[in-house]
Amino acid sequence: MTHAVKISGTGSYLPEKVLTNYDLEKMVDTTHEWIHSRSGISERHIAAEGEATSHMSAAAARNALDAAGITAEDLDMIIVGTITPDMVFPNTACFVQNQIGAPNAFCFDVEAACSGFLYAIDIARNYISNGSAKHVLVIGAEKLSSITDWEDRSTCVLFGDGAGAVVLSVADEGERGIMGTVMGSDGRLNELLNVPGGGSRHPASHQTVDDRMHYMKMAGREVFKHAVRCMSDAATTVLAKAGLTVDDVACIIPHQANARIINAIASRLGTKDGIVYMNLERVGNMSAASVPVALDEAVREGRIKRGDIVLFVAFGGGFTWGASVLEW
Ligand code: ACO
Repeated sequence: MTHAVKISGTGSYLPEKVLTNYDLEKMVDTTHEWIHSRSGISERHIAAEGEATSHMSAAAARNALDAAGITAEDLDMIIVGTITPDMVFPNTACFVQNQIGAPNAFCFDVEAACSGFLYAIDIARNYISNGSAKHVLVIGAEKLSSITDWEDRSTCVLFGDGAGAVVLSVADEGERGIMGTVMGSDGRLNELLNVPGGGSRHPASHQTVDDRMHYMKMAGREVFKHAVRCMSDAATTVLAKAGLTVDDVACIIPHQANARIINAIASRLGTKDGIVYMNLERVGNMSAASVPVALDEAVREGRIKRGDIVLFVAFGGGFTWGASVLEW
């Protein structure tokens, strides 16, 4: 038997410390004007020392559980989308399980960069749909400040830290919930966006540290082009798959990489004014955390109402991309 699957609660957490573009002017050769005009970003949140991805995840998770009206004991699974896990292992979801007290859940991470949250939603949806799970906690969380090269002005101005969470549950009678998903990858383009050091290919050594290989490397212009194309195509395909058009969509929550990327996608899709949710001006690019944090803010601001058609779309290193459409 297959069940419809809905989002029954959302939550988010942003660290207290705010780093503005004016602060960055004192760290690298840049200006607020350059950063804001090229990316749309003005400020971002930065985790405190000792504050790990799991701590931010657990805070977001508690909000999502409250919103869903269930307890951590009700969870059958926890999945964390992240490229900045607390440790190489155990997985971050196990740390979250311990912090929120979810003894009945099995736990793992999904590493798909900025698409990690959407990939995790798709996995969770399948477990619930086939009857193997009733409630799944899906988190997108990143401490990107830990892999940001604070001497590289072409990347350090873009990223921030934070966590967003949703509870996925069996939908009630008559609710459509998640109506379709489309996921894709292109591993040939792995060189354009990555952290080369610290894995099995280049294990941590004095040399990898000296060569700054533990920081994010990005070919910005190339990534930009692929991001626009892949996200527009994924959004178009998922709408067609669900039998919808862009005019049916009440709110689009895109990955918050760059306002120019988002505007290019909106113009390719031909969206109505005011339906694309953007918070990147205040939070920057938080990779896997971007979509769930934006979603939680949109829900709490009343931008998404019951019955609305909502579209998520994301793109990141790998390359990976995905889109999901659901009835709220
Ligand atoms: N301040 C001032 N000047 C800068 C800065 C800075 N912070 N950074 C770069 N510049 C300079 C460059 O050196 C270059 O100078 P040059 O022409 O003399 O060589 C000039 O500005 C233009 O640089 P570009 O890289 O061409 O600038 P662009 O307009 O492409 O914007 C940006 C750069 C914002 C990075 C853009 O390419 C972008 O958003 N790319 C996509 C990012 C993205 O989507 N990432 C996705 C996922 S992230 C993930 O998966 C973790």
